[in-house]
Amino acid sequence: MPATILLGAQWGDEGKGKATDLLSSASDIVVRCQGGNNAGHTILAGDRLLKLRLVPSGILYPHVTPVIGDGVVIDPAVLLEEMDALAAAGLEVGRVLVSGNAHLIMPYHLELDRVTERYLGKASLGTTKRGIGPAYADKAARIGLRVQDLTDPKIFRQKLDVALKEKNLVLSKVYNRLPQDSDEIAADYLAMGERLAPHIADTSARLHAALRAGRRVLLEGAQGTLLDLDHGTYPFVTSSSTVAGGLLAGAGLGPMAVDRVIGVSKAYVTRVGSGPFPTEDDGEAGRHMSETGHEFGTVTGRARRCGWFDAVLLRYAVRLSSITELFLTKLDVLSGLERLRICAAYRHADEVLHEFPAHQSVVHKVAPVYEEHEGWGEDLSAARRFEDLPAAARAYVARIAELSGAPVRWLSVGPDRDQTMEVPGP
Ligand code: GDP
Ligand code: IMO
Ligand code: MG
Repeated sequence: MPATILLGAQWGDEGKGKATDLLSSASDIVVRCQGGNNAGHTILAGDRLLKLRLVPSGILYPHVTPVIGDGVVIDPAVLLEEMDALAAAGLEVGRVLVSGNAHLIMPYHLELDRVTERYLGKASLGTTKRGIGPAYADKAARIGLRVQDLTDPKIFRQKLDVALKEKNLVLSKVYNRLPQDSDEIAADYLAMGERLAPHIADTSARLHAALRAGRRVLLEGAQGTLLDLDHGTYPFVTSSSTVAGGLLAGAGLGPMAVDRVIGVSKAYVTRVGSGPFPTEDDGEAGRHMSETGHEFGTVTGRARRCGWFDAVLLRYAVRLSSITELFLTKLDVLSGLERLRICAAYRHADEVLHEFPAHQSVVHKVAPVYEEHEGWGEDLSAARRFEDLPAAARAYVARIAELSGAPVRWLSVGPDRDQTMEVPGP
């Protein structure tokens, strides 16, 4: 049975937690594939509100095995704290599996994330300061420590000493910070390793076996397409590959293992952190989206920048990940705006661009070419069938699908699991 990929089609926070939770009822295994606790995925199921950072959003279903795959970077303190909180809320966390190949976020990664951002000053990226970039940098430099190293104290210590020797020079000589203590880190991490040991598994092999046995596997993306290290708005991106290919690599699956790719997108756009954002709206509409949509970061609490739906950006996401269907969220937030805009193309100098520009300088300079659409005043949050929506809302959704090149299969009109509807095909 082929697996399904679910990923963010914009700049993150599209509602992947909600969408994954919903689709998890029909999944046996849900996998986080990349990123780390820079992710904040929210689930609301009745009176239960979860804000997950590392544990996959399938955790609410007792029949689901949540898997943290090879491509994830793990801060073990955060993972253990999250599992403890979930256990305290009555959820069975013994079933969480963690890949031994996943890299560890170390205390010096956290410190380096903070000091390098400060050092960049006005050019800072606005990272989540969770050590993500420095951990992936060490992985690529082949001086990272992995989850499996926690099970071999001697090897762990050797690797730590090699890495820390260089990090302490950088911290003290370049950034004028205190060096970190190898004994302390080793003691902390090895103790956490003992707690994590029962969860460590060959997750890629487990996924292959599960697929062969006809079980349903859902890969849950973190961040979003425009934050992808290769294809996003570099350097204002995260340090992992957030597109479908990156999720496959992070889970240890090949492309033939999948037959559906669900792109999650808001009915408008948000971005947190620095970088270009062609359809950003600083006026009344942006304020409306921010306030009505409660657009504040799940991880850092920062205000998210808001703007109009951008079809150029979504077409790009559809292309990069072979998105087969869209899960459109937060349509309810647009209620009350008299006129709505959709960005259908970009203008750059005298040219109209229908594709996302390949050159970053162009992305910074483009002006959106907007279509105007009629808004609606009705509250959508109680709607459960597409036919119940006002005609203007249905037309808006249909136009998004048409311009994006993928059908809208699900529509979300509120944060709760119930506030979702399937959209009938054409
Ligand atoms: P993720 O990172 O993609 O999982 O998204 P976040 O959880 O960071 O942010 C999405 C926010 O929007 C969360 O607070 C969700 O509860 C909320 N949300 C999701 N879908 C909807 C929706 O259709 N309408 C409204 N009003 N809120 C939603
Ligand atoms: P979810 O999974 C939104 C952004 C940060 C910053 C940039 C780099 O909840 O959608 P990093 O800490 O990754 O080095 O920061 O990426 N960013 C996110 N924005 N949602 C996320 O995750 C994000 N994870 C990272 O704000 O601009
Ligand atoms: Mg989020």
